[in-house]
Amino acid sequence: MEDKKLIFSGIQPTGTFTLGNYMGAVKNWGSLQEEYNCIYCVVDMHAITVRQDPAKLRQNTLNSYALLMACGVDPEKSILFIQSHVRTHAELNWILGCNTQFGELSRMTQFKDKSQRHPDDVNSGLFTYPVLMAADILAYNADLVPVGVDQKQHLELARNIAQRFNQRYGDFFTLPEPYIPKVGAKIMSLQEPTKKMSKSDENPNACILILDDKDTIIRKFKRAVTDSDTEVCYSEGKDGINNLMTIYSIVTGKDFAAIESEFAGKGYGDFKLAVGEAVADHLEPVRTEFARLSKDKAYLKKCYTEGAEKAMKYSQRIVSKVYHKVGFVDR
Ligand code: TYM
Repeated sequence: MEDKKLIFSGIQPTGTFTLGNYMGAVKNWGSLQEEYNCIYCVVDMHAITVRQDPAKLRQNTLNSYALLMACGVDPEKSILFIQSHVRTHAELNWILGCNTQFGELSRMTQFKDKSQRHPDDVNSGLFTYPVLMAADILAYNADLVPVGVDQKQHLELARNIAQRFNQRYGDFFTLPEPYIPKVGAKIMSLQEPTKKMSKSDENPNACILILDDKDTIIRKFKRAVTDSDTEVCYSEGKDGINNLMTIYSIVTGKDFAAIESEFAGKGYGDFKLAVGEAVADHLEPVRTEFARLSKDKAYLKKCYTEGAEKAMKYSQRIVSKVYHKVGFVDR
C-alpha cells in the first residue's frame, strides 16, 4: 500500500442502510478512497450481540456488502471485506479485552440503551462489543475512523485501550482519530427529530432506508414532523426543519442561506416535497447499481474473498507483533 494515512470503518449488516448511515458514514467512505488507504468491513460478528435469524443474517451481510459497493466503495481501491472472514479481529479482541476495565465498558451509552431494549438477552458480547470494535481498528493501526457522532464514545474507548497497551508494552498502536462529517454526523428521526434516525425505530415513517423506492421516500418526507412555524430557516428549537435542511443541503450541495432564500415565502409542504424528491433522485443510482450487483453473486464472492485475503495479510503482521509483545511464544 502507498504511504498515505490509513482509514478504517465498519457497518452492521442490516441489509439496507438508513439515510443516517449513508450521510453520517457510507457516503464519505467512497470519496475518501482517493486521498487515503481505506479498509472497510461489514461487521457480522458485532451483529450477533443481538439475536439474529441465521439465514437472514447471511443474506443481510451479502446485501450490505453489495450495497457498500453500490454507494461507491470500490474493492479495487479499498480493502472491502466481511469481518468474520478475518480471524485476527477475534484474536486481538481477546488481548484488548484483557486491557479494558469493567468500569469503562459499563459507562458505554450504547450498552445501556441496548440492554434496556433487549432485557431478556444482556449477553457478555453486548457488553464487550466496544472491545471488538477497538480490535477492528487497531488490527490495522488505523489513523482515522469515519463515523457518525453516535460512535464517538466507542472511538474514545478504543484510543484509551490503545494508550493503555502502549504504556504497558511499549509504544505500538497508533491512536485512532474520529473523522466525523461537519454536516450530517447525526441525522435525526423524521417523526421525533430530537432522536437519532435508526432502523430499530418502531415507526417506519421515522426512518428512510436507502433502498426505499421514490414514492415511499417522498411519502415519508411529506409526513415528517416539523413545528408550528411556517418559515424554512435554520434555528434553535426547529429540530425537524433543521434536520430536513441538513439532508437537503447534503444532497443538493446548497448551503443553509441558499436553501432559506429558495423557500422564502413558500410553506413547509413545498419544502418537504422538494427534500423528498431530491433525496429520491440522489439515491436512484444507488438503487440501480445495487440491483445490478446483487445479481452477480460470483463477482461479489470474488470481491469479498480477495478483500478478506488482503485484510488478513495486513492485520496478521500487526497481530503477530502484539502476540510477541504480550509474551506469547512465537510460532
Ligand atoms: P452502525 O452499523 O450502527 O452504523 C454505521 C455508521 O453509520 C453512522 N450512523 C449515523 N450517522 C449519522 N446519523 C445517524 N442517524 C446515524 N446512524 C448511524 C454510525 O455512526 C456509523 O458510523 N459499532 C459500529 C460499527 C463498527 C465500527 C467498527 C465502526 C464496528 N467496528 C470499527 C468504525 C470502526 C456500528 O454499530 O455502526
